[in-house]
Amino acid sequence: MIDLIVKTLLAYLLGNLMGGQLMGCLRGGIDLRTVGSGNVGATNALRTQGKGFALGVLAIDVLKGVIAALLLPRLPSLGTLLVTAQEQAYACGVAVVLGHCYPAFAGFRGGKGVATLAGVFATLLGAALLWMLLAFVLVILLSGYVSLATLTAAATAIAWLAICEPQQLFAATGLFVLAMAVLVTWKHRENIVRLARGEEHRFEKARVLGR
Ligand code: G3P
Repeated sequence: MIDLIVKTLLAYLLGNLMGGQLMGCLRGGIDLRTVGSGNVGATNALRTQGKGFALGVLAIDVLKGVIAALLLPRLPSLGTLLVTAQEQAYACGVAVVLGHCYPAFAGFRGGKGVATLAGVFATLLGAALLWMLLAFVLVILLSGYVSLATLTAAATAIAWLAICEPQQLFAATGLFVLAMAVLVTWKHRENIVRLARGEEHRFEKARVLGR
């Protein structure tokens, strides 16, 4: 059990390394939390700093999700583990996302966990991620709202679970998907209020497509 605690702790610490903060340091102290939507994610980076910066943020945040879900569970175990390899991977996945959303080393003021979660999904639930990406891209192209696209992707994950893996609903995969969908929705509560008021930041199609 101690192994699982150590691995999830490492995943949480890895989550604390936020792409937005790292890129901000490299670019001479830019703090995404003080500009645009105030979020440290790639969306706000694109909105306020441009494509190169945003790509850096995205790459770092996705990569740490992949590392946490793929590599940390494979670290050698000292004793007998009480959980399966898959459950370990989910635990590390949850921990890295929580580390990004609530980083102890940044005053618990983190991001929304979307890119990191995408890295975890890419590693553990590639089929679900494909549907989520499809919904995400479609909603962005139709509306220009990244937050709405993200919320739709979270709902798509639940739909995928109910349709494609109903037997997993009360197993590790189901609990992971449901918990992460709730977390992402909770982290977007301010976006939801802005969307309802018609005040949400919107990307023009040309900006989204990089033209
Ligand atoms: O992934 C975050 C995105 O859904 C919303 O970001 O900066 O518009 O709050 P932002």
